Amino acid sequence: MANWKMNLSIKESLELAKKVKQTIKNNHNTIVLCPDFLALPFIGPILKGSSLYLGAQDSAAFNLGAYTGEVAATNLKSLGVKYAIIGHSERRLNLHEEAPLINQKIKIALETKLIPVLCLGESWQDKKAGVTKKYLQTELRQALKNIKIKTASDLIIAYEPVWAISTNKQAKPMSPVEAEAIHIFLKQEAKKILHQDVAVIYGGSVKADNAASFLSQKNIAGLLVGGASLKAEEFAAIFK
Ligand code: PGA
Repeated sequence: MANWKMNLSIKESLELAKKVKQTIKNNHNTIVLCPDFLALPFIGPILKGSSLYLGAQDSAAFNLGAYTGEVAATNLKSLGVKYAIIGHSERRLNLHEEAPLINQKIKIALETKLIPVLCLGESWQDKKAGVTKKYLQTELRQALKNIKIKTASDLIIAYEPVWAISTNKQAKPMSPVEAEAIHIFLKQEAKKILHQDVAVIYGGSVKADNAASFLSQKNIAGLLVGGASLKAEEFAAIFK
C-alpha cells in the first residue's frame, strides 16, 4: 500500500499514478494507491483496467449527514475506493484521533464494504518503557470493540511503530525479526476479538533495500509505504 499522505499536488498525484501503472506489468501482488481525497476522482479512471486498487487515507465516522468537512465512506465507495486507512499515527497525533472515533470509522467503513486498514503502533516512550504489547493490546481492543467481520479479508491491520516512521526526526528502522514478533502478537490478539486470521502489514521506513527483509517474515503479509512510495521507480522496486 502506498500512502502518499498530503505530499503531492493533484497534478503530481496523477503523474505518479500513471508512472506506477506503467511499472506494474505481470504483477501478482495486491497494490493499493492512497492519494489524497481530492485526487481520488481523477486517479480512479487512470487505474481502470490495471491491477492497481484505490485506497483513501481516512473515512468518516458517520453516514451521510451534517458533518462539515468530513468525507463519507459511501462517496469513497462510489469513486471506486476499495480500502481506507484508519487511525494513522499522524491523524492520532495532529488531529487527536482516539480509539472510540477510530472504532466508529471502522464500523462505518465495514458497513459500506470498504476494507479498513487499521493503523496502530507504539511511541518511542512506550517502547523504552517496555509497554509496547500492553499498549497495542489496549488500542486493538478499543479500536475493534463490537466489530464483527465475515471473512478474514474484510479488515487489515497495519503495524506502524510511530518511532520508525520516516518523517519522525529520530526515525530508526525496526528490525524485521522484531517486527515479526509483534505481527504474531497482533494476529493472535486480533483473532481473539474478531475470530478471524486477519492480515497484518508493516509500515515504518520501508524502502526498496529493506522491503524484502520484512516480506520474508512469515507473518508480515504486506507493507504500508510512505516516503518511498512517492517515487515510481522506488515503489516499483519494492513490489517487484
Ligand atoms: P514511511 O511512512 O514509509 O515514510 O515511514 C509510513 C506511514 O506513515 O504510513
